[in-house]
Amino acid sequence: MRLLNLILLKLGEEGSFRNFRKRFQDYESTSLIDELRARDFGRLDRQNHTYLDFTGGQLYPESLVDWHNRFLKAHILGNPHSQNPSSALSGSFIASTRRKILDFFNCQDDYLCIFTSNASAAIKLIGESYPFEPESRLLLTMDNHNSVNGLREYVRGRSAQFHYSSLNQEMLTLNEDDLLAQLRNCDPSKNNLLAYPAQSNVSGLQHDLKWISIAHDLGWDVMLDAAASVPSSRLDLQEYQPDFVPISFYKMFGYPTGLGCLLVKKSSFSKMQKPAFAGGTITIVSVLGDGYYLDTDEARFEDGTVDYLSIPAVGQGLEYLEKIGFDRMKKRINSLLNYLIEELQTLEHSNGKKLLRIYGSTSENHGGTIALNFFDRNGEMHDFLTIEKKASDWNISLRTGCFCNPGIDETNHKLSASDLKSYFEQEGEKDYFNLIEYLGKRRGAVRISLSWITNFRDVYRFIQFCKTFLNKGCA
Ligand SMILES: Cc1ncc(COP(=O)(O)O)c(C=O)c1O
Repeated sequence: MRLLNLILLKLGEEGSFRNFRKRFQDYESTSLIDELRARDFGRLDRQNHTYLDFTGGQLYPESLVDWHNRFLKAHILGNPHSQNPSSALSGSFIASTRRKILDFFNCQDDYLCIFTSNASAAIKLIGESYPFEPESRLLLTMDNHNSVNGLREYVRGRSAQFHYSSLNQEMLTLNEDDLLAQLRNCDPSKNNLLAYPAQSNVSGLQHDLKWISIAHDLGWDVMLDAAASVPSSRLDLQEYQPDFVPISFYKMFGYPTGLGCLLVKKSSFSKMQKPAFAGGTITIVSVLGDGYYLDTDEARFEDGTVDYLSIPAVGQGLEYLEKIGFDRMKKRINSLLNYLIEELQTLEHSNGKKLLRIYGSTSENHGGTIALNFFDRNGEMHDFLTIEKKASDWNISLRTGCFCNPGIDETNHKLSASDLKSYFEQEGEKDYFNLIEYLGKRRGAVRISLSWITNFRDVYRFIQFCKTFLNKGCA
């Protein structure tokens, strides 16, 4: 019986794949990726693992790890910041990797690249160094990762103000009228900062980069959170020139973890105020003389020793992405995502009620991410933890919860500011589940994120998994 089921599943998959290829003819031109998948990500198929959490972390190509292993074995690398041969060699690899990063984003002449441990650390650097002053404004969008939301606490400490611009309720796109009105409402003689994501880590929507120049014209600096967009979309910093761009490299090519950067437009660099100094950030410091002089370039913000062993692997990772090419990635992701969305939208219980709700517009510019919830035949929402557990039984890696982006979740579930404020006024420890209990309503979602590594089988398996919830009640 089990064998028969397997044969039927295989036949079903083959038939669906034929149908998919007819509907999405662009997919054919991405066959290079199938070769790379077999060579560099063969562990996925060997372990029958359906990995759908690429916004959480990209998977590393095995060849990148092999390259790094060979590289480490071949060189004697010492702590930089000295002139001895091992130190100078590390220094030269760091410098050449910085150049590769700036080339990748097409901004060699106009930007500096400050190494950080991840995108969050890059954003924190802005929080610590951006010169918020009384009457300065920080403008955030409701769609923001918590590492960006956290900037508001730096503002609060300096008597400046922060505001949120809303999203269009069903579409989850930026509410353009509101955003424009808020951008117009600032004193341009003060330091004002707009912070928004190039791509939502929840809805996958790619927000319009036109807001960068609109904000500049109205007296704002801009931090563009590119962490979720650059793994599969080209960011050309000649075309769009935000002042600050935080990035995590493991999100782009999976390895190394613990390395990111902050790209800073040279003309905005002098605005960043370093509150203290540390080893590696100064040209001179004196104990008795009670003075110091900060480095004039990136080093000013790189406290202590950077990860000099891993940094060279970043250059190799970028080359890997270049070889695949963003056009090919886009074709691959768009074909699979559009197929997935179309198929998911057809799933209905026998009483005609929809199985799934996908949040946000699927017709606007989109990366490979969608957030959704499962509903039973009575229209009741399944707890996302049940979905995650059942997916794990299928060896599917997906992510559930609010994905460090509470603004989107509060929008999706129409939570009110007054309910949320009164929750925070309560005494006692707090967490997400405690909040759900207090509100007495289910919230959160299930997130599926594809990348150029994804193939038809991954998507097909997820659809089959969804079908197992048809005509079922909530547990
Ligand atoms: C849009 C966005 N910004 C920032 C971050 C923070 O990245 P990290 O955890 O690597 O610091 C993430 C992580 O998922 C993200 O998706």
